[in-house]
Amino acid sequence: MALETMNVVCIGSGYVGSVTGTAFALLGQNTTIIDIDTSKVEMINSGKSPIYEPGLEALIQYAVEQKVLKAETSYKSVEDADVIFIGVGTPSKEDGTADLQYVKAAARDIGTALRNHKGFPVIINKSTVSIGTAEVVATIIEEASGLQAAKDFAVVSNPEFLREGYAVEDVFFPDRIVVGFNSDKANEIMQQLYARMLSRERYEEGLLRVLPELRPYMEKEKPVYFTTDTKSSEMLKYASNAFLAVKISYINEIAMLSERLGANALEVAKGMGLDSRIGNKFLEISSGWSGSCFPKDTAELLATSQKYNREIKLVNAAMEANDAMHNYVIEKIKTVLKSLNGKTVGILGLTFKPNTDDARKTQAEVIIRNLIDLGVNVRVHDPQGVPMFQKYNPKLVEGSSNAIVYCEQAEDVAERADAILLLTHWQEYLQIDWQKMSQMVRMGSASNAVHDGAYILDTRNFLDKQKLVELGFFYQGLGY
Ligand code: UDX
Repeated sequence: MALETMNVVCIGSGYVGSVTGTAFALLGQNTTIIDIDTSKVEMINSGKSPIYEPGLEALIQYAVEQKVLKAETSYKSVEDADVIFIGVGTPSKEDGTADLQYVKAAARDIGTALRNHKGFPVIINKSTVSIGTAEVVATIIEEASGLQAAKDFAVVSNPEFLREGYAVEDVFFPDRIVVGFNSDKANEIMQQLYARMLSRERYEEGLLRVLPELRPYMEKEKPVYFTTDTKSSEMLKYASNAFLAVKISYINEIAMLSERLGANALEVAKGMGLDSRIGNKFLEISSGWSGSCFPKDTAELLATSQKYNREIKLVNAAMEANDAMHNYVIEKIKTVLKSLNGKTVGILGLTFKPNTDDARKTQAEVIIRNLIDLGVNVRVHDPQGVPMFQKYNPKLVEGSSNAIVYCEQAEDVAERADAILLLTHWQEYLQIDWQKMSQMVRMGSASNAVHDGAYILDTRNFLDKQKLVELGFFYQGLGY
């Protein structure tokens, strides 16, 4: 049965809001993204993406041209919306818990706009929110609108599982759609909303017309529409993210021990991943996990568990192991260079992973601060992340700290460097001129170095070791 078009509103045009809003527009829903930031509203209406996310800008441009997507600062479109997503930020507070001020402000504004609503609007918590927030949002909306929850409107939990850098793939081809509700009427509306995503109706004429390279994903199994109550849905999001963080910390600890014992943790991870109970994803060794989600979500889950005197010790251990992994990278450089004070380290990669401009709370920030504190001069490069890295690390902007130099060209990080450190595995780092870099570094760099050749530490085991060794580098990966 062809379902009639719905009016979809999305509050927030960040990583969650702009991706969610655009996705439903591409499914033919009449979609409005609301943001208080007029520059973001103007970007979207001119077919531009407010965030760097592969494929997203092309989709926004198409949706705006097809007149199924627009952006506004006013909440007017809420008055006749069928569903309203809350996709605003939920940053960490000092105590680790999620700051819900923006969610609560959006709820108040939605409530005010719902006073004249004629239907049964469903408000959808898409942002990652503390367990119990659906009820908090419902109360705020009741107070602001004079309406009654369950009778006049419903609030549901519908957590996103998008990975930055892969958000377009993840939003259109998710493994599962999780919906937490306490009202069956709300679920009927959610099933209608997601029907086209579950059936992949309109993918040909929409998504695949704009991004034909995503066609292979059509082979992927269709998502499961998983329903539960609101609190379980909210918990499911934190439990999933924290588990992924635990899994990564686990393989990183195996990597540190393997180096000590002469085992190869890359082989261990590969062999582990062949067990379907373990799976091969999120077992990639790294300098540790970071970004705008894992640190926030693990901190919130841990703080909540401690608040209710049921501490989730595994999450605490994973966070500690993660900090240790960041430090382990510095230990390795110190071991090879013998001393760090006055040395120069060239760093490739500031973002928390490739294919994103997100350089908030990254492992690079922790490692660079520690290196500078140890007297190291750093020369850094990132294809996309420098503006955001500088915005969130004002003290690490050139001039305010003469210990850091931002390089336009990746190769320039090697200028008189005693060591090169790869933190983010951007594809383009495979193509940079390593020959040229091998002439720029200080070969046999530190006088008391334990090895000949300039040292390169590849924390993602990503570069062509053979080629670098032939160029005279002393190459080390992680975990073997
Ligand atoms: C994560 C979850 O994957 C996603 O489902 C949720 O919606 C938001 O949080 P994201 O933070 O965008 O997504 O990135 P992700 O790809 O999960 O990586 C998180 C961190 O773990 C990055 O620093 C990444 O480099 C690191 N990582 C990831 C590893 O170190 N090893 C791995 O095997 C995978």
